[in-house]
Amino acid sequence: MQTRQKYFNLTKDIKMPMVGFGTYLIADEDAPSLVHQAIRAGYRHIDTAEGYGNENGVGEGIKAAVEELSISRDEIFVTTKLYPGNEAWGQPLKTYESIIESLNASLAKLRLDYVDLYLIHAPFAKSKRLEQWKALIELRRQGKARAIGVSNFNETHIEEIKAAGLPLPDANQIELHPWSQKPDLVSYLTENDISIIAYSSLLPLSSWRDAEGQASAKTEQMKADGAVSDSPFKAMAKKYGVSEAQVLLRWGIQMGYAVLPKSANAERIRQNIDLFGFEIDDEDMAAIAKMDRGEGVAWRSGDPTKDA
Ligand SMILES: NC(=O)c1ccc[n+]([C@@H]2O[C@H](COP(=O)([O-])OP(=O)(O)OC[C@H]3O[C@@H](n4cnc5c(N)ncnc54)[C@H](OP(=O)(O)O)[C@@H]3O)[C@@H](O)[C@H]2O)c1
Repeated sequence: MQTRQKYFNLTKDIKMPMVGFGTYLIADEDAPSLVHQAIRAGYRHIDTAEGYGNENGVGEGIKAAVEELSISRDEIFVTTKLYPGNEAWGQPLKTYESIIESLNASLAKLRLDYVDLYLIHAPFAKSKRLEQWKALIELRRQGKARAIGVSNFNETHIEEIKAAGLPLPDANQIELHPWSQKPDLVSYLTENDISIIAYSSLLPLSSWRDAEGQASAKTEQMKADGAVSDSPFKAMAKKYGVSEAQVLLRWGIQMGYAVLPKSANAERIRQNIDLFGFEIDDEDMAAIAKMDRGEGVAWRSGDPTKDA
């Protein structure tokens, strides 16, 4: 698929900008300025999470940008995520009632009345997954979340929702890049009309989370194996006159996914949204299709797609 579109239909009534600004590993104190810069650069979609500890700063950045640029709240698409708890990590699982409180707390920090998309961050709460999903359905009914979805869920987790006769998620946010293409899950989500949001699109770059302690043990291993240094994306970047990062992000767009590049660097923030002036040709898309290496490697601890 080749696309020049900048939005996709998350639901029949809700449009989602295909390029969002990722905020994982952005500290709360840095978020106001970086989110403000991103909105100035043209981003209209911001991705945060309760677990990132930066909703307050993200909210401050959105408020400042909306005021400066005289744009209305409904022009910015904001996603946050419920941290579900994880018994294996000694954390209590969130209950229906505590989830209602969690979103209220997130909204207060974000200085918003509603979020555009509320996601369960991971399928960790095996014994409470359906209860957690029912709470999100209620929050959508109350208008506190326009759309609801999941993140890091696999087919089995979504089948559980289907078997309970509950509405399916509007979206699933998952690790997707040329090294982790998840063709079966992607087909399943497409067949079930669940929109796909890709995270860690830039993982194959040598600069991906290169600051001390930010990469996962598994990506460190890939780097140690030399997998990152002989990047085939360099040649493609040269051919299209763009950066390797733009090739990776454009691949996600052409696959029909929303992408969420994170950067703390002004020039990269601008570059990462400039994806609609070139197209990866069929030959290169076919070459990238052969680069799949299996499951994701971005999470620093554990595997977010497995039951805890
Ligand atoms: N749902 C989940 O479980 C989950 C998991 C992971 C991520 N996410 C979401 O997805 C977003 C993106 O994923 P991510 O943060 O893992 O990684 P990413 O956006 O794929 O990559 C970010 C890394 O790439 C570097 N970078 C950014 N732009 C670049 C460019 N143009 N050229 C070279 N290097 C560049 C950044 O460094 P600088 O900052 O120094 O530029 C940073 O180290 C997150 O921020 C978060 O919102 C969700």
